Amino acid sequence: MSRSEAVYLNGKYPSKDEASLSILDRGFLFGDGVYELIPIHNKKIFYMTDHFQRLKKSLELINIEPAIVDEIDFEKIINTLIDLNSYVNHFIYIHISRGVDEHRNHIYMEDIAPTVLVMGEKYQPFDTDNIKKGKKAILEDDFRWLKSNIKSTSLLANVMIKNKAKTNDAYEALLIRDGFLTEGSASNVFIVKNKIIKTPKLSNKLLPGITRKFLTDLISKHSLDFEESDISKEILLEADEIFCSSSTNPVVPITQLDNKLISENAGPMTMKIYNHAQSFIRDFHK
Ligand code: PDD
Repeated sequence: MSRSEAVYLNGKYPSKDEASLSILDRGFLFGDGVYELIPIHNKKIFYMTDHFQRLKKSLELINIEPAIVDEIDFEKIINTLIDLNSYVNHFIYIHISRGVDEHRNHIYMEDIAPTVLVMGEKYQPFDTDNIKKGKKAILEDDFRWLKSNIKSTSLLANVMIKNKAKTNDAYEALLIRDGFLTEGSASNVFIVKNKIIKTPKLSNKLLPGITRKFLTDLISKHSLDFEESDISKEILLEADEIFCSSSTNPVVPITQLDNKLISENAGPMTMKIYNHAQSFIRDFHK
């Protein structure tokens, strides 16, 4: 990341160093906003329509007018940042907060103009050797709120949980609510049992991940056995394979869960899906 890179902030393209916001921005004071993180592969926006749709849904759910997504023309802004900063394989982070208020007040003004920030970050997914070895995860109570389907910038619980994972030398924390798997602190979770791929069904308890959608598209294209189902903690611990999905790393095998070894290395089904994802992304480069 270079601090001289251009970002988009409310209609202008300042550098990361120069871009600044009011201390009365509700995103800063209350985490009152939503975001998207979109991979750029070979200068192209990956699963763009799905990301923009989810952004609109998140805005609608927090009562910010979703039409802003079309009015602002994010595709044009992202392509401008790709050109200005010579992005090839990066992430684009879009952040929309409710805007700058007159006072710090829980109750927002109705006519407040949202703050819109778009910026890029370098893309550094794990290499294949790293993927084959697999990663450790910990189990954690899902103590987040019950609107985890909103891609909210209020990420304190996720930040605490992910840092607990790091303290335990783990890549991720898999979250259990009322005895059932929801997702990871920054990823969705899949398991494989008897060659059937399973992931929790969408609800208010987890984010509708775009990579989850990408992988289920691939799973159906390649006619692999798949079901969305409730996954209890016991079923999770008995899984043959586990992997996490997110825009930063589409498929990350989990080979150790707390002190339990799930598999020596990444399992065969996980590697099959990883390879399908890699080849789809390679084709997307053309
Ligand atoms: N997070 N669940 C949570 C809680 C997440 O934070 C993420 C992604 C996902 C996967 O969503 P997607 O496939 O659309 O990236 C699931 C991103 C990477 C982040 O916050 O940086």
